[in-house]
Amino acid sequence: MDVFEAISQRRSIRTYKNKEIEEEKLRKVLEAARLAPSASNRQAWKFVPVRDPETRAKLAGATYGQQWVEEAPAIIVACATEGKGVMTCGQATHTVDVSIACAMMMLEAWEQGLGTCWLGTFNEGEVKKVLAIPPHMRVVTMMPLGYPNEAPPQRPRKAFDEIVSFDKYR
Ligand SMILES: Cc1cc2nc3c(=O)[nH]c(=O)nc-3n(C[C@H](O)[C@H](O)[C@H](O)COP(=O)(O)O)c2cc1C
Repeated sequence: MDVFEAISQRRSIRTYKNKEIEEEKLRKVLEAARLAPSASNRQAWKFVPVRDPETRAKLAGATYGQQWVEEAPAIIVACATEGKGVMTCGQATHTVDVSIACAMMMLEAWEQGLGTCWLGTFNEGEVKKVLAIPPHMRVVTMMPLGYPNEAPPQRPRKAFDEIVSFDKYR
């Protein structure tokens, strides 16, 4: 599978098979995050893959009703070890850095036959409590990871010309 195939075939997966993820595959997905670029190469992140079913259930409990999250054999909790930095361009460093690393993981996962789903709907405070994450850190997202038990069709996207404007903003 080449990169564009992974990009175009990836789907958010919300139903997972009851099948463990091979250690090697899980490590390769996390390796994709380790190799991701970051501002000034600070790599101010920490990824917590949660496989324990009881802890997964507690994390799912912090997602405002998205109980399906606990079905996934792993939930990768993606954290920033610093949450205050702002780049010269005005964007929050930690959100950008961790998001890039997670996008890399999503694609590597898809190549390994594994599905993910980005979660933005969760209670950060509760997640931090469940995993004993220090107060100064931020949880940018949680991503359930596992073998898909559904094959959703491609979700709609805006047309190319609607989102691209060569040479000048139009
Ligand atoms: C920042 C962000 C937050 C999201 N939060 C959630 C979420 O909390 N729950 C969920 O089921 N999907 C969530 N999604 C997944 C989107 O709904 C999904 O990416 C979008 O509908 C397009 O579908 P696709 O990923 O299959 O192409 C989120 C995606 C992004 C990028």
